[in-house]
Amino acid sequence: MPSKSPPKDIAVSSPNEHVWLVVLNRPSQLNALSANLMAELGRTMTDAAGEDEVRCVVITGGDKVFAAGADLKEMAARDMIATLTEPTGSHWEPLHRFPKPLIAAVNGYALGGGCELAMHADIIIAGDTARFGQPEVNVGIMPGAGGTQRLARSVGKSLAMKMILAGEMIDARAALAAGLVAEVVPHETTVARAIALAGTIAEKPPIAVRLAKEAVLRSFDIALDGGLSLERRLFALTIATEDKAEGIAAFLEKRKAMFKGR
Ligand code: CAA
Repeated sequence: MPSKSPPKDIAVSSPNEHVWLVVLNRPSQLNALSANLMAELGRTMTDAAGEDEVRCVVITGGDKVFAAGADLKEMAARDMIATLTEPTGSHWEPLHRFPKPLIAAVNGYALGGGCELAMHADIIIAGDTARFGQPEVNVGIMPGAGGTQRLARSVGKSLAMKMILAGEMIDARAALAAGLVAEVVPHETTVARAIALAGTIAEKPPIAVRLAKEAVLRSFDIALDGGLSLERRLFALTIATEDKAEGIAAFLEKRKAMFKGR
């Protein structure tokens, strides 16, 4: 758990061994991603990355809204120079660079920066009430936290263009069909399902999990030859771990493996 003064706009807990649950907590503003919320989130992700005990993080919002996007009340007062220089952009970096598995549990609206936040996750579990959208054009702007890049990579050009250019939302079923989310579950079970999945991942060998995440994410950036070569080298690294010896020994001895991240 982070040792510094407790955050105001998010809540952090540990529902399972090795798992942190981060809850966006500005319900009166539909979890709009204010500068303070993003600073707290950035610090928390940095803490989670550096904390050996943490093997997986789940991020969620509320029952009716995951997050309604960037804080438009703050944005109203911000000009171009401030937008280029303000630190909010840098608060996304710890999410973008987060080396461990990150799961988003999404109920209700995930709009604008909220959809972009969910797309920073490695896996999105959607409740059946979830609605995803990039409605920035409705307020005269465009996505600014990775929406144009991650949405197109996730759902393909045509649907991404429809959502970004027309500002139209899609529901959980459409998000599943498009590959934006991994599962749709009854909304009252979304967070529990995400925590259970995080628990499953947390029982796996942490080094293999981290290297596998790195390899999959790199597949979006580099050509197949380079990706296969990277995979081969990362695979060889896993062969050198104590967890590989433990995993194969446990398989051969027909017992549960106890992975230590070494
Ligand atoms: N920023 C600041 N406040 C917001 C907000 C936002 N993005 N979204 C909602 N709120 C506030 C409302 O102003 C309202 O506050 P007050 O009570 O003080 O008036 C409160 O939350 C409740 O909102 P609504 O009354 O609008 O609730 P609703 O249930 O009628 O509608 C909604 C819900 C469809 C999500 C609607 O609030 C909405 O469209 N919100 C804006 C969504 C949006 O445009 N997001 C993109 C933001 S830009 C962005 O994210 C840029 C980027 O890429 C980083």
